[in-house]
Amino acid sequence: MSVTRAAITAVGHYTPPKVLSNFELEKLVDTNDEWIRTRTGISERRIMEHGATSDMAVLAVKNMAERFKIDLSEVEVVILATVTPDMFFPATAVLVGHKLGMKKAWGFDISAACSGFLYALATGAKFIESGANKKVLVIGADKMSAIIDYSDRNTCILFGDAAACVLLEPSEDPTYGLLDHRLYSDGAGGEFLHMKAGGSLNPASHETVDKKMHYIFQDGKNVFRLAVKGMADVSAEVMEQNGLKGDDVAWLVPHQANLRIIDATAERMGIDRSKVMINIDKYGNTTAATIPLCLSEWHASGQLRRGQNIVLAAFGAGYTWGAALVKWSIGTKA
Ligand code: COA
Repeated sequence: MSVTRAAITAVGHYTPPKVLSNFELEKLVDTNDEWIRTRTGISERRIMEHGATSDMAVLAVKNMAERFKIDLSEVEVVILATVTPDMFFPATAVLVGHKLGMKKAWGFDISAACSGFLYALATGAKFIESGANKKVLVIGADKMSAIIDYSDRNTCILFGDAAACVLLEPSEDPTYGLLDHRLYSDGAGGEFLHMKAGGSLNPASHETVDKKMHYIFQDGKNVFRLAVKGMADVSAEVMEQNGLKGDDVAWLVPHQANLRIIDATAERMGIDRSKVMINIDKYGNTTAATIPLCLSEWHASGQLRRGQNIVLAAFGAGYTWGAALVKWSIGTKA
């Protein structure tokens, strides 16, 4: 029986030009560059000064279309992972489709925080694998600066803004593409990482604004402990399921939340640091955008090769976590 797999056939990204360095944060909160770098690995992050999440997503998709000569009018489905949609509704995916003139496409958003891209990738792949669709656009985009309290040193140092995307198409060779994935969620983690107000539980009011309930709340220690375990466990699980050892994996693409979480995951998988995609120093945690941003940057610099085994791994609010195994399909530098 022939199997149809979803292959990543194009990648793109956008990072806003405005840089917010650790030194600038020193002026806003009681912190310092050395603490931030040694505790998180972050030196600077990008800020979208004007415009919304959909505007970053549009620029990421345009970057992909230009690099890979994609006719966007052929896209059939748009899946956008974000926790910072332009509005509650309509879905940001639909706004992106409209802004890019994708008349044929329907779309929807996925809310799985830092695991959002993996959830969206797995969902998008199902449309290809089932034979229902031939071109599915998967976007991870977050304007985290919209929900950050820049007087809270526990969170403002961590996050940044970015968007990145991949195009999924049926793989010509069924041994290439998204080979496997494992996704998990546990709502018991909700109390440790969330935004309290704005939803139906605490609708926006003067009180919710006064109490700063429209910003990220995080119990960093709890998140850290579970992220290290969750990301390492699920990555190891995907490797074991597919009979892979560290040497068989060309790249680990971890969600970029904290360099210490990334290092712990790589160590558990037996993967050398030289094979781990790391750009947290430049961008911080861009939530749903981190993994496709790495893929797009590494492809642009010619470091990805067709046939390489790549493990994607993430952990985020929910809690949500997961890992995916991809055999890289794109041949030459675009
Ligand atoms: N600058 C300077 N000092 C800071 C600080 C900052 N920005 N933030 C906290 N501190 C202080 C604390 O107040 C504490 O001081 P104390 O010992 O006098 O009480 C000390 O530094 C250590 O704080 P702690 O919270 O134990 O630091 P940590 O090593 O746990 O690092 C995080 C904090 C947030 C970097 C870390 O917990 C983390 O990365 N968590 C996971 C975040 C994450 O992944 N979130 C996204 C989900 S994917």
